[in-house]
Amino acid sequence: MWLVFNVFCIYLFLWPFVSHAEINEINRPTVGIIRWDAWNLINGQYDAISYYSHRAMSPEHFHYRLPFFAKINSDTNVTINGDTQEIMDEEILYAKFAGFDYWAFDTYCAFGPNCTTNSSYCVQYYKQTSNQYCPQNPAYGLNRYLSSQYVSLINFTFVLLGSSPCDDKFQESYIEFMIHPQFQTVLDGRPLLYLFQFDDEEAQLCGGGWHGSGQVFNNFRQKVINRGLKNPYMVLMDGDIERCKTNAAAIGFDAISSYGIGGGGTIEGSPFSDEVQRSEQWWNAAIQSGAKVVVTLPTGWDPRPRYEHPVPWVNQGPEHFLQPTAEELQNFFKNSIQLTCMNKNITEAQTIIVYAWNESSENGASLIPSIGNGTYYVRALSEILPMSC
Ligand SMILES: *[C@@H]1O[C@H](CO)[C@@H](O)[C@H](O)[C@H]1NC(C)=O
Ligand SMILES: *[C@@H]1O[C@H](CO)[C@@H](O)[C@H](O)[C@H]1NC(C)=O
Ligand SMILES: *[C@@H]1O[C@H](CO)[C@@H](O)[C@H](O)[C@H]1NC(C)=O
Ligand SMILES: *[C@@H]1O[C@H](CO)[C@@H](O)[C@H](O)[C@H]1NC(C)=O
Ligand SMILES: *[C@@H]1O[C@H](CO)[C@@H](O)[C@H](O)[C@H]1NC(C)=O
Ligand SMILES: *[C@@H]1O[C@H](CO)[C@@H](O)[C@H](O)[C@H]1NC(C)=O
Ligand SMILES: *[C@@H]1O[C@H](CO)[C@@H](O)[C@H](O)[C@H]1NC(C)=O
Repeated sequence: MWLVFNVFCIYLFLWPFVSHAEINEINRPTVGIIRWDAWNLINGQYDAISYYSHRAMSPEHFHYRLPFFAKINSDTNVTINGDTQEIMDEEILYAKFAGFDYWAFDTYCAFGPNCTTNSSYCVQYYKQTSNQYCPQNPAYGLNRYLSSQYVSLINFTFVLLGSSPCDDKFQESYIEFMIHPQFQTVLDGRPLLYLFQFDDEEAQLCGGGWHGSGQVFNNFRQKVINRGLKNPYMVLMDGDIERCKTNAAAIGFDAISSYGIGGGGTIEGSPFSDEVQRSEQWWNAAIQSGAKVVVTLPTGWDPRPRYEHPVPWVNQGPEHFLQPTAEELQNFFKNSIQLTCMNKNITEAQTIIVYAWNESSENGASLIPSIGNGTYYVRALSEILPMSC
């Protein structure tokens, strides 16, 4: 009940907040946040991905991390289904309240039962890139967002994954989305796109190597331009700065970034200040690398649910960081924005990308309101975002 009340209050406070935000449109970096949607049912049942996700979160000691819409049936049994319009509407209001500009939707192949697919790129994804990652309805979050009455409150883009972005049909589908007025742009109208999990094997299948993949992505740029849009601003994500810089140059991407700063921490839990420190090291090294940069900001790292109940697509240990306090999170955001303001020639897109909205089984401080921490984090951010240079 308290959540319904909360959403209502946020709704009332949103309008003055939105008009206030318009004043700050000039000279401020936009702030985007990654969404990972694997918390749904298909015909009343979990597909393999949502089954493992909900199983990881079932033990009582992880219930506090469950997204607000989850139901606790018993100490060891939870139900998670975020695939309703009502829940998406609430999520949009929360994300807007926090002050986010856009969601970056993780964009996967859709598979039939038992990993069936007709696309060789999608086969490569579940066989090579991410073992058995075969969601049946990976775009439910995107579709619910697009059909929401609140769609205009927050923009969107994609984190494309693996080699399927090289497929002509997939590319055509992205362009249809890029035409949407809510599609996030940077640098005076250039559509923004991220690409993740694109390494040697993906480049091989995409274009017979990095050089050939560069041609594939240049063709994609041309298709976008031919549809009357501006040259897309494409960002490669890979935590290894030197490799990312080399590969981004080979495929003609505009900037480098990272999908959070994965791993780290200790079994007992390192203080969040350590997560901040390693992120700031990454930021500074990336800025000095000579590449253009989109700063990444991880709000946490705690994959213990997946350590206790492993998922097939990734192997993660018990090492983790403790959750940030509101003040720690605020200062972390302020530092990332200030850095982005101060290095405009390098952070030219003037945007930062946050990990994550709802990686609830991997990130101990996902920002989506949760059963145990309520609106603690979105409230903390609402006090500082949007933030001008
Ligand atoms: C996070 O959002 C994505 C994209 O909308 C969705 O597929 C996923 O199920 C969501 N996860 C949670 C925990 O809400
Ligand atoms: C969990 O609880 C739900 C709702 O009571 C029930 O339908 C389901 O069978 C239970 N699952 C397990 C694994 O016990
Ligand atoms: C999926 O594979 C299992 C095990 O091989 C089989 O029993 C089941 O019928 C398959 N399901 C579908 C829908 O093909
Ligand atoms: C593969 O193609 C067949 C025939 O066009 C179609 O019926 C089927 O739904 C497709 N399967 C998937 C997983 O896309
Ligand atoms: C969404 O993006 C468009 C185009 O870049 C921009 O005009 C608009 O202000 C953005 N809306 C929000 C809610 O950020
Ligand atoms: C940024 O780029 C502009 C235009 O190329 C240049 O004049 C300026 O000196 C650069 N500033 C820094 C700090 O490198
Ligand atoms: C989140 O909730 C858990 C469980 O109640 C609690 O231990 C933790 O301190 C909370 N985190 C914050 C940052 O308040």
